[in-house]
Amino acid sequence: MPSHRGIWRQVLGSTAQAQWHSADFLSFAKNCREDYDCVLMSFAMHHLRVHDKAELLREYHRLLTNSDGAFLMVDIVRKSGETLSNYQERSQYDVKTNWVGLSPDALASFTDHMLKYDFPETVTTLEEIGVAAGFRSVSIEHVADKGLSQFIAMEA
Ligand SMILES: C[S@@+](CC[C@H](N)C(=O)[O-])C[C@H]1O[C@@H](n2cnc3c(N)ncnc32)[C@H](O)[C@@H]1O
Repeated sequence: MPSHRGIWRQVLGSTAQAQWHSADFLSFAKNCREDYDCVLMSFAMHHLRVHDKAELLREYHRLLTNSDGAFLMVDIVRKSGETLSNYQERSQYDVKTNWVGLSPDALASFTDHMLKYDFPETVTTLEEIGVAAGFRSVSIEHVADKGLSQFIAMEA
């Protein structure tokens, strides 16, 4: 694999070999000694607390740095300056108002899950912990769904 900046754009559009692992993110990354071109994470980073996100990014940077690779994540984010509790109020309201097809039980189960397990960060925090982990650039590649979901690329 040639080593140059932005290689992940080619990796995504190619038939490059992919490896799929089923494991706890952090313990897998900590114990991994291979080099990677790309790590993809979809709607899962928000389940970690900020110190675990920061630690995971340090480990991913280590796995990606030899190939000038990239960590690509799609995830929900908090608005700029929004606290977790304000985010929870807003997202609970949004789900209760707009997810009209859910049964009351399914709605209660989902909103309970959000309160217990969802800890999205602001984009600024993700940028800060990405840069602190060693990534040389953190860029917003796509903003979707009223800004709630974003595709973020961190280049090692
Ligand atoms: C909202 S689902 C997203 C599933 C899928 N990636 C997608 O985009 O449709 C969040 C996923 O994160 C996984 N997850 C949460 N914490 C994890 C951890 N510490 N290690 C590995 N997976 C984790 C959960 O098991 C769940 O499958």
